[in-house]
Formats: sequence, structure tokens, C-alpha cells
Amino acid sequence: MDYLELLKQAEKAKKFSYANYSNFHVGAALIGASGTVYLGANVEGASYGVTTCAERTAFYKAITEGERKFTTIAIISDSDKIIYPCGICRQVMSDFVDDNFVIICGNSNLEYEVYTFEQLMPKCKIPL
Ligand code: THU
Repeated sequence: MDYLELLKQAEKAKKFSYANYSNFHVGAALIGASGTVYLGANVEGASYGVTTCAERTAFYKAITEGERKFTTIAIISDSDKIIYPCGICRQVMSDFVDDNFVIICGNSNLEYEVYTFEQLMPKCKIPL
């Protein structure tokens, strides 16, 4: 699947965002090593700290369905500014992706920038 197609999947996922507090709707589409695409959206709560980003929703859906490795994620919001994954999501990703994992950061006009995980989150693996 090409990058634009994956970004369009993320746009579809955004429709199910529950963002009644920030009104900032985000969607993500994540490709597993099996080839399956997992969709996610942000889910907020009245206790603001419970919020889960679209990226983590997609990862947690995939992980709890048995997927353990991933190749690519695309993310999008309603904004015409490009969106980038937050620090918490980057940390969560670090357990499941390698440095070549591709992160497609899009905006509401379906314009996008492409990064590797290593570019956005260098030197983060914890050598437990
Ligand atoms: N959010 C995401 O879902 N992904 C990001 O990459 C950044 C922020 C969500 C969290 C919250 O629901 C809203 O956007 C405002 O921060």
C-alpha cells in the first residue's frame, strides 16, 4: 500500500475519534508484519489524563490481536498543520518497531512528511 493510501485509511479511522474535550480528532493506520492494517483514533475522558492517542489505540489493538512487529504508521488530524506522534506514543512504539519503521505524518489536505522511527526517536532502546 502506498503512503497516500495509508494516510487515507488513517483519515477514515479519525471518524471514530472520541475527542469531546479537545475537539482535536486524530486517526492512525498501522501496518503489521502480517500485512494487516490496524486503525485507531484518540479516545479522551473527563479525567483528562486517561486520554489515549490514535497511535497507541492502533498499536494496542494490534498487539492484543497477536501482532508483534510493524512496518509503517500514518497519522492525520483535522488540522492543516502536519501532526507528529507525541513522546508517549514514540516510547510505546519503541518496544515493537525497529529503526527503519516508517512514520507518515499528514495534515488535513493529505499532504505528508515521511520519517523513520530512528529520526523521531533516536537512542531510546532500553537494554534490559
Ligand atoms: N493526539 C493524538 O491522538 N495523537 C497525537 O499524535 C497527538 C495528540 C490526541 C490526544 C488528545 O486526544 C488530542 O489529540 C489533543 O492532544
